[in-house]
Amino acid sequence: MSQGLFVTFEGIDGAGKSSHVDALAQAFRASGRPVVLTREPGGTPLAEQLRGLALNTAMDPLTEALVMFAARRDHLVQVIEPALARGDVVLCDRFTDATFAYQGGGRGFDLDVLAQLERWVQSVEAVPAGQLRQPHLTVWFDVPVDVAAGRLAAARVPDRFEAQPREFFRRVAAGYAQRAAADPQRFARIDGAQPREAVWLQVLEAVRGRGWLP
Ligand code: TYD
Repeated sequence: MSQGLFVTFEGIDGAGKSSHVDALAQAFRASGRPVVLTREPGGTPLAEQLRGLALNTAMDPLTEALVMFAARRDHLVQVIEPALARGDVVLCDRFTDATFAYQGGGRGFDLDVLAQLERWVQSVEAVPAGQLRQPHLTVWFDVPVDVAAGRLAAARVPDRFEAQPREFFRRVAAGYAQRAAADPQRFARIDGAQPREAVWLQVLEAVRGRGWLP
């Protein structure tokens, strides 16, 4: 059995990651690997309920951080860990970097508290004591805030995060940049402002470069 692979996708709202997550799932399946395609907050019945609350109900920043991590814990235990144990590829639209970027950067919530919650939630049996479950690769769609805002405006009724001003997203983007700088091996930065096909080639290259796809 091959080893499980955990890949996450990040970026500010409007960065355009969704279609590429789907395409990458297809590419892995075509190569013969089972894929679990999932998202955060969400991915289980409980976590999807928490998502509905997080995206639509006003709450204080600590509550918001706890809801994100509560959803994550359920998702890890119920879906991600079992899939990795089977040797599946887990493709997850957002994970903990989003909490550091949105709750930490965007809302300005205490990063040390987030790091502590991360330690509690991502300590799992399959990972040696003292280490945390982390993605093997995080594909980060880095897009200028003005470009992302333009895409969002055309799209849909905004949720509680999408409705935030550009200044909020500048802080979120800085939060992502900080996480990427702290763990450059794990992150693949994608220039998301390019045309869709060029973005896809960058995504594919990030995965092929690690030898995970032919
Ligand atoms: P998103 O992933 O963009 O889904 P959709 O494409 O359906 O809108 O929406 C999730 C939102 O939740 C997004 O605005 C970022 C936010 N979020 C956080 O604030 N913290 C987190 O930890 C996660 C996972 C998401």
